[in-house]
Amino acid sequence: MFEIIRRDGLARIGKFATRAGVLETPALLPVVNPKILTVTPRELYEEFGFRALITNSYIIRSNDDIKQRAENEGLHSLLDFPGIIMTDSGTFQSHMYGEVEVSNQDIVNFQKRIGSDIGTVLDIFTEPFWTEEETAASISVTLERTKEAASMKDDMMIAGVVQGSVYPHLREMCAHRMRDMDVNVHPIGGVVPLMEQYRYEELVDVIIASKKGLSPDRPVHLFGAGHPMVLSLAVLLGCDMFDSASYAKFARDDRMMFIDGTYRLEDMLSLDCKCPACGSHTLETLRKLPDKERTRTIARHNLYEITKELSIIKRYILEGRLWELVEQRCRAHPALLGALRKLSEHGEFLERYEPLSRDGAMFYTGPETYSRPVFRRYLERVSERYVPRTKSMESFTDNGGCGKPYLREYHKEFVWARREGRTPVVMSPFGPVPEELDEIYPIAQSLFPQIADMETEKRIDPSDNPLNFETVTVTAIRGSHEDAEPIDTTEGALVDKAKAVARYQFGIAAANTLMSGKIELVVSRNTGKIRNVISDGEHVLSMRAGDGFYTLRPEGAARIIKNVPAPHMRVTVSDDAVPFVSEGKNVFCAFVTGCDDNIRPMEEVLVVDGNDRLAAVGRAVMVRDEMLSFRKGVAVKVRDGVGKS
Ligand code: GUN
Ligand code: ZN
Repeated sequence: MFEIIRRDGLARIGKFATRAGVLETPALLPVVNPKILTVTPRELYEEFGFRALITNSYIIRSNDDIKQRAENEGLHSLLDFPGIIMTDSGTFQSHMYGEVEVSNQDIVNFQKRIGSDIGTVLDIFTEPFWTEEETAASISVTLERTKEAASMKDDMMIAGVVQGSVYPHLREMCAHRMRDMDVNVHPIGGVVPLMEQYRYEELVDVIIASKKGLSPDRPVHLFGAGHPMVLSLAVLLGCDMFDSASYAKFARDDRMMFIDGTYRLEDMLSLDCKCPACGSHTLETLRKLPDKERTRTIARHNLYEITKELSIIKRYILEGRLWELVEQRCRAHPALLGALRKLSEHGEFLERYEPLSRDGAMFYTGPETYSRPVFRRYLERVSERYVPRTKSMESFTDNGGCGKPYLREYHKEFVWARREGRTPVVMSPFGPVPEELDEIYPIAQSLFPQIADMETEKRIDPSDNPLNFETVTVTAIRGSHEDAEPIDTTEGALVDKAKAVARYQFGIAAANTLMSGKIELVVSRNTGKIRNVISDGEHVLSMRAGDGFYTLRPEGAARIIKNVPAPHMRVTVSDDAVPFVSEGKNVFCAFVTGCDDNIRPMEEVLVVDGNDRLAAVGRAVMVRDEMLSFRKGVAVKVRDGVGKS
């Protein structure tokens, strides 16, 4: 069973429970060749902390001596590994050397017999040069074999491999067809040639197509991805597990893995690694080591480099900054930069998993940053949900270096524009930002360099009229109204802001019901910022200082239930969960029966029963597809239970 602990978009920190222990993901499984133990499994477990490894059942089965031992004492004893053992099936050997002499049934049974914790189906490796027809035909066979493997697995877990060559629709179809099969992990297969040939742009398409088809509650394994330089990108796209034979293979021909690429020992000009393996070595001492010892040292170095990157990836997920790490990493090689650019073609899918806000500020690292779904999200919402309150706008610009929030930078100019009956709109790298929205995430919580690049310049054309204003006035150089007497419009401006943020966050209909009647605002004495919104005497909303968005109060939630039809903002739970949720307990996935497909992570939601009666108000931590497929984990963090009325 798989459970998400933390997430950042599609990336997740998870717990995968197996009979041999719990694997925290993202995880890399070192490939162990039982015939050549460059680093022993015991060392992998104790020194490096790997809780799972992968070995090949086909190789074990082909060697009489090892086969006998595996059958007699079992894999864990054979390898002396107390963690989780996954086995592969021989598919990769067929890719390398042609047909293998084993049936799906035989190899699945063999994996069971030797005590593999996670066995793999004998899938057909779909080569990148195959035609669509060939690929489709072989997927049918793989699907049949997966069904067969799932039916005979008993208490061994089964890895059902997604194939489909470079055809996204076939990948998605293959993945989708496995939803109903009793499979525990989904490796994405057939991608080794893509990685060997640095075809990372296609790799992005393949991963995303597979993710679209798969059920979100199963971990996704990227078969053969073991270079630290691709890990963060793959994690960003929702891969949870990896395996690496390269750490040992590369070591055997004196190649060292670093985060920015692979280097041949003979070509290196210096050794700047201080990992425990390199330790006190210099290039010279390392080169002079006897063959076996040198291979082992490099293999251990490679493993340290992998584990280091995995810890960094986890930290960035926790900090909500994985995009920034990926943007750094993908600058190590043009092929990776291409992959990063490819993400802009998948904006719609990525946006579904993009949280409403994050804790820290968003850092701009270059034009590729515009592929992030946060840009698309902002533009969509401001275009659909912003209601201009005047007929004309006055445009200001933020070329990236502008102070934030914009009201602080352009205080007098904004006041002047408003007095003239115009709405100040800042043409920013995010798109047009009306004055009222200048404090929401990520507008105010983002950092750009002072010197704009061409892509940014293109986005901030001040003569655009983006939000259906009738007329546009272009001012506005800071200081142009230095003499203007600021008049106090604070109250009116704040109410406008309160309304605009509500529309952006909850949609126009919900905002209208929240903001109906007489509006009073509780404003912070220190900062002048909105704290609470009182509508007709009811405290409906509170505003958060951090991201400029609201938390929804039960009184506000009750109005939405009454006036905005389901499923808007609703998460429906089964009747047996209602008493717990009403008392303020979190909503667990197992009890979710329905969910608005427009809910994004970190959004305010209404938890309701089957008759659309309010049970609680809270924050979603998952999207619909996840809530409905996971059996474990929190779907909604409840803030206020509403009790029984
Ligand atoms: N190892 C690397 N690629 C693959 C694949 O596509 N299928 C299997 N079973 N193992 C692999
Ligand atoms: Zn090292």
